[in-house]
Amino acid sequence: MQQPQTLTGLTTPAAVVDLDRMTANLDRMAAYAARHGVAHRPHVKTHKIPALASEQIRRGCPGLTVATLREAEVMAHVSDDLLLAYPPVGAEKLRRLLALPDSVRVTVGLDSAEVLDALAAAAAAAGRTIGVLIELDLGMHRVGIADPRAAAELAARAAHARGVELRGVMFYPGHIREPAGDQHAALQRLSDDLAAHLAALRDLGLPATLVSGGSTPTAFQSHHVAGITEIRPGTYIFNDRTTAAIDACAWSDCAYTILATVVSTAVPGQAVVDAGSKAINREELRGAAGGGFGALLDRPDVVVRAMSEEHGLLDLSVSDWRPRIGDRVRIVPNHVCISVNLHRELWGVRGDRIDAYWEVEARGWRS
Ligand SMILES: Cc1ncc(COP(=O)(O)O)c(C=O)c1O
Repeated sequence: MQQPQTLTGLTTPAAVVDLDRMTANLDRMAAYAARHGVAHRPHVKTHKIPALASEQIRRGCPGLTVATLREAEVMAHVSDDLLLAYPPVGAEKLRRLLALPDSVRVTVGLDSAEVLDALAAAAAAAGRTIGVLIELDLGMHRVGIADPRAAAELAARAAHARGVELRGVMFYPGHIREPAGDQHAALQRLSDDLAAHLAALRDLGLPATLVSGGSTPTAFQSHHVAGITEIRPGTYIFNDRTTAAIDACAWSDCAYTILATVVSTAVPGQAVVDAGSKAINREELRGAAGGGFGALLDRPDVVVRAMSEEHGLLDLSVSDWRPRIGDRVRIVPNHVCISVNLHRELWGVRGDRIDAYWEVEARGWRS
């Protein structure tokens, strides 16, 4: 099949990346990490594309963060240092983890003796050493251990087990979604909690060489978290409507859009495009005011008010823009990572010209 050369030649809906914006996002994060002497291990769940991971590595990232075994297997082709920031439970996942090339230094985040013991036994049986980070709960209340003594005890168990090596701790500050300038109190609380954990580890004589944290909303404030050695923002490469809504990026930093075509204007007050929940995804705005499921890149006041699977309903009530059938729009989704995972490929553009094409190789979670 002949690939289209221009945006105009693309069949909609299509996932499109503004290459200049993406490059600026990559460069900004790399410069921050270098300036503050903190390692950046980006979470690849946002793009799931080895060529984009290579762009991150080329800018100084020492390794990558993955959530699925599929991501690990795909990214092992471009990185020799992977953090699985997700507890691998079950024999099949352990088998796939241990089947990663020996040249890859593998580290796993976990928060239970059950996962640790099964991992250690499987790794020892395979003659391999897997790194372990104890996952801490510093306010997110998703996974992780909140009590410093309990976390240190699990760390001690890791330090004494065959098949694994204790490398440190990790946490995910996904609960901090205030604008950067208002994060001070939350980051101070997080730093205090982290200090208590590091003290508990020291009391047991345990090393925490790696202290891994960081998210896109907190990324540029990471130097305020005492003891952090590594950050893992992922969304920053593209950004999205939620990230802009909580002031963690400018609207002009949003690099990813769904290109869609207006297919109906029959119902007054709205225009319908050919991108619905199967192209955009149905996540609400998290931690920010405003409704809908996305907004137009060039007219952010026009939001996707409702969706069916293949229909996106643009609300024209606050705009005097009246599109015609066949007009094309670019929609910034609320949550980019979920949208990318819905697409087989992304198109990189400069203006109307298509300059890049990538398969979303690590999409899905199984094969
Ligand atoms: C464990 C972990 N680390 C890092 C990230 C990246 O954070 P962000 O999406 O804010 O870039 C995520 C996001 O879900 C995560 O779950």
